[in-house]
Formats: sequence, structure tokens, C-alpha cells
Amino acid sequence: MASTIVILGTGGTIAGTSASADDAVGYTAAQLGIGHLVAAVPALRELDLECEQIAQLDSKDMDIATWQALAARAAYHLARADVAGVVVTHGTDTLEETAYFLHRVLASAKPLVLTAAMRPATSIAADGPQNLFDAVSTVRDARARGVLVAIAGRVWAGAEVRKLHSYRLDAFAAGDAGPLATIEEGRLRWWREAPRGAALGLAHIARDATQWPRVEIVINPAGASGRIVDALLAQGVHGIVAAGTGNGTLHRDLEAALLRAQAAGVRVLRSTRCAAGPVIGGALLRSAEVLSPVQARVELMLQLLS
Ligand code: SIN
Repeated sequence: MASTIVILGTGGTIAGTSASADDAVGYTAAQLGIGHLVAAVPALRELDLECEQIAQLDSKDMDIATWQALAARAAYHLARADVAGVVVTHGTDTLEETAYFLHRVLASAKPLVLTAAMRPATSIAADGPQNLFDAVSTVRDARARGVLVAIAGRVWAGAEVRKLHSYRLDAFAAGDAGPLATIEEGRLRWWREAPRGAALGLAHIARDATQWPRVEIVINPAGASGRIVDALLAQGVHGIVAAGTGNGTLHRDLEAALLRAQAAGVRVLRSTRCAAGPVIGGALLRSAEVLSPVQARVELMLQLLS
């Protein structure tokens, strides 16, 4: 039976340190190695774990090359007969993009569970050790499949999760979909199955990171104009996600510019600047459905790689 769990470190606040234990804001992310984070959780000592450092960054600096490296190492380990699943430690700030990216790319049915923390490892009340323990518990659960996120006592689908709060420990949600499971004392209480989708596979993302399509997000504030879109078109942008108001509606000048860009061959997806909810209907510019603007950007980049 597969029993090894591989833990891949990428940095984030979970690996962050601060000069003062009561400072949960003025810290530096991505300072401690993955072995250090695992050693801080006594309950993990009896388990068959392997640790690997993929990157060491503040996830605001996440990039395509790191995504490619992470997906490749995750796929390698998930294909091993002795591996039950993979845990990825990550920063919270772009976790929803990495989770969505891995969900769309990785084909394995074995669990890959991302986790993170809102407070640095040196905090008087660090949340990282509990979250790491919960992520490992999630991998060990017989019902866990595909890309998941375990944080603050709940399990989310990698396809659905969003960061909604800048400070609170339970900073994540999945809009109307809700959590997949709750975690209590290392045991999961499941509420529903994770959504499945056809994975694109590693070959789909093999293009050199410098050659990936350029996809930008344009928000629709009150008083929007089409000038940003016209500038992006002039620069040769390949795709634009429009973060519209409410149900993805757009200021008439911005919409006109997006339609001009679309007619010129730029792929456009219409999302919403609301924190939750889908974009329903609308014929002229394609809807991003339930994807947040940053998830829709990942989706559009992956589509444009075809
Ligand atoms: C990061 O995203 O790497 C820093 C912030 C965090 O992890 O909460």
C-alpha cells in the first residue's frame, strides 16, 4: 500500500519569520525550509514523509516557470507507486491561482493538498503547523482526490477556492459552492465530492515560460474608459479578462474597446469584480462563469497555449 507522503515547499508566510513574535504583518515570507516546517509538527514524526524544496518565494512573486517546476515534480511523485499523495506549502496570496492551475493540469486521482498560513512561523499563535498537519491528514483520507486546499480547518476544491480576507486566519472560501470537508482532530467530515474535470497534462504547459501568451486583467471601476484596452491591444496582448461590475457588466466605453480587441483577435473573458457569484448570460463577450478574475486569467492562458 502506498504510504509515503511527499511535501513540496514553495515559501509563503507559513515559512515566514518576524523579528517580534507579536508582529503578524511586518514579517518576511519564505525564510524557513520545508524540513523546518515539518519538524515543527510533532504528530508528523511517525509518518513516512519526504520533503523537497521547489521554490522559496513570497507568493506575490509566483511565476509561470515556478508553476511548471511545481507541476512537474508533483506529477512525478504522484505517479510513484509508493506515494499516497502530495502536500504543497504555499503563500496565501496567489494560492487560488496555483490551486486552479494544478487542478487544470494534473491528471492524477491521488490527492495533492495545498496549504498555507496567515501568520509567520515565529508568531505567538502561528497557524502553519496546524494547517500542515491538516493537509497531511487530508492526503491520508480515503475520500481525498485531486487538487485540494486545506486551511483553517476546512478543505476546499482547488478549482473553486478564493482568498477573501487579507488578515483573518480563515481567509478562504468558495462562494456558493462552500467547503468540501471540515477537519477536526485530524479527521475529515465530508460534505460533498470535489468537482472533476479533464486535466490538460504536463505536455500542454511545456512551452518555455517566456513564450506563454500574455493575458491581462482589466477592472471596470465607475468612470472606466477603453484606453487601457487600446494600449494593451497596441502592445500585442493575447487575452484580456474583464472584471466587470455585478453580473460582469461593463461601462459602454470599456465594452466597446473590448469588442474592438476581440475583433482584432484578442481572446476576452468576462468575469466579475464581485467577491463571489457567476457571470450569467451575455452574448458578445464570453463569460468566465464562476471563475474569479485571477482564475479566469489562468484559464485563458491555458486555453491560448493550445
Ligand atoms: C505569500 O503569499 O507568500 C505571503 C502572504 C501569505 O502567505 O499569507
